[in-house]
Amino acid sequence: MSETIEALLEEGRRYPPPEEFTRNANLSDPAVYDRAEKDVEAFWEEWADRLDWFERWHTVLEWNPPYAKWFLGGKINACHNCVDRHAEGARADKVAIINEGEPGDVRTLTYSELRDEVARAANALKELGVGRGDIVCLYMPMIMELAVAMLACARIGAPHTVVFGGFSAESLKERINDTRAKAVITADGGWRRGKVVPLKRTIDEALAQCPSVSRVLVYRRIGDAAEFDAGQWVEGRDVWWHDIVPKQSTDCPCEPMDSEDMLYVLYTSGSTGHPKGIVHTTGGYLVGTSATFHWVFDHKEEDIYWCTADVGWVTGHSYVVYGPLAEGATVVMYEGAPDAPDKDRFWRIVERHKVSILYTAPTAIRTFMKWGDEFPARCDLSSLRLLGTVGEPINPEAWVWYRDHIGGERCPVVDTWWQTETGMILISPLPGITVCKPGSATRPLPGIGAAVCAEDGTVLEGPRGGYLALTQPWPAMLRGIFNDPDRYVEQYWSQFPGKYFTGDGVKRDEEGDLWLLGRVDDVMNVAGHRISTMEVESALVDHPAVAEAAVIGRSHDVKGQAIAAFVLLKSGYSGDHLPKELRAHVAKMIGPIARPDDLYICGDLPKTRSGKIMRRLLRDIAEGRALGDTTTLADPAVVASLRDQYEQTEA
Ligand code: WTA
Repeated sequence: MSETIEALLEEGRRYPPPEEFTRNANLSDPAVYDRAEKDVEAFWEEWADRLDWFERWHTVLEWNPPYAKWFLGGKINACHNCVDRHAEGARADKVAIINEGEPGDVRTLTYSELRDEVARAANALKELGVGRGDIVCLYMPMIMELAVAMLACARIGAPHTVVFGGFSAESLKERINDTRAKAVITADGGWRRGKVVPLKRTIDEALAQCPSVSRVLVYRRIGDAAEFDAGQWVEGRDVWWHDIVPKQSTDCPCEPMDSEDMLYVLYTSGSTGHPKGIVHTTGGYLVGTSATFHWVFDHKEEDIYWCTADVGWVTGHSYVVYGPLAEGATVVMYEGAPDAPDKDRFWRIVERHKVSILYTAPTAIRTFMKWGDEFPARCDLSSLRLLGTVGEPINPEAWVWYRDHIGGERCPVVDTWWQTETGMILISPLPGITVCKPGSATRPLPGIGAAVCAEDGTVLEGPRGGYLALTQPWPAMLRGIFNDPDRYVEQYWSQFPGKYFTGDGVKRDEEGDLWLLGRVDDVMNVAGHRISTMEVESALVDHPAVAEAAVIGRSHDVKGQAIAAFVLLKSGYSGDHLPKELRAHVAKMIGPIARPDDLYICGDLPKTRSGKIMRRLLRDIAEGRALGDTTTLADPAVVASLRDQYEQTEA
């Protein structure tokens, strides 16, 4: 880690905002930081005033650490703000969503068409017995009906829980049963690299053990276009979208919700075997996502904005759906893989739709670098004016490549740090103000308080490294963990009392800029996806052959981290087929994104005398480094033999 820090801090390249950009920027006066600091509640109130409220709030913030409430007494509807208020005004015929399918089909919805479609879907949900307060699980491809479904839920006050289409039946089951979702919205399948992802079949498998779900609404995406097993049709439970949605009336008023009513639950990995249901509410979340969308992406009326994240992750919730649509943006949604049919697909999309703002992940950028400069070079990318990244630390080389080869050396690049829990971007350059440094997310946005803390919670000033903590509440912050109030306090607020613990390491440089260094807990970041070591370990020990498993994230030049698993077998089990079988077992239990890259069957695991697995040593082994301190090991011979075994596999 310290080598990385040194290398980062020697990064001397500086990119001030282009003058022309600053001249037209939504935020161009650095005084905004002071203004926010002087009266943070008045500052957020100003942004809340840009939204439509049925009833105004009486109190901006109630902060009883660690519980925050924002815009108390306010009545608001997220769907009204993202859809109706544009459809009823000057943006009625403006395109809201451009949806490109992987096979190349393009469908669009204007704001007024979106309004009608959302209202019909909302009425269909009502017909299926879904009402205010009922939770709906969404398991869909990246098609515009996913956004329509989310907004339809928001319209009638039914919180949604979106499950990423790459998760397994087992993961779905866990999420559905935790929320006791009443209905599911899915599709027969989605396209990925020319193949069908059989979503409905996976839903069927999960629902065999989900008693709360009584209805399943199925969008026909694939139909007869491919031969595949679409699962079973359960009469009385399953209903086709095209049978029920189009016939509905477009008359469906938006339910006036309390500012603090739940908008959605989204599951993310923590440091245990079970994911946490992060709860976001309505008013503050919309204020935070719409304001940051306006500042960080400098959104203008004529922009075409593309965030490549899947809506199954928080980035898709906040910056494909709620933030951009609340601002009346035109949003691109792409269904498939970046190399389908060829490695220039992203750049073809930018060219075809004249994308002006692009937001993607460092792992994708590193993949593009590896594929070669010729793919972006053969497309016209001159429409781009701003680039963003999110999800993991970006190495300076990838940052500069992105700026030069995608941004034509003219676009500012914003490296945005945030989390599922934060709901909105918290640390990022402001593209019209900030001098960017490749690899640094620079500073907290106006109104956001961040500190670098030592292990004991002491706040460290000046150029120091430590843990990133947040020192004051912000509007889109999580309101809790669904069904687990204790875990909320323990996970985020007990490390440094009074401050929110992010789980990330950070270093502040001489100029006060922040360099995020990745997780310091048992959460891995694999290609920008959060996966807990414990989840993968539980999936492994679920297999009958496994006695014990230890999982670590090792560094990987494209994915950021790769998953390495060390497995101890039960006696009587052996065989060369096992590594492959165990990797497949994890994919089945969690989803293909959690399949270990390396799997070592070993004779023993390195443990301390108190029986704790020393992951640090496993990391040293997996990364081929000199072993760190082994004096606390119960049996030092264990690592030596593991090391030998590792070297043999490598050779
Ligand atoms: C990491 C994604 C460095 C970090 C929005 C965080 C980043 C976790 C950055 C949250 C960034 C996200 N630089 N690291 N710009 N953005 N991270 O919940 O470790 O999927 O804690 O939210 O991703 O991941 P999550």
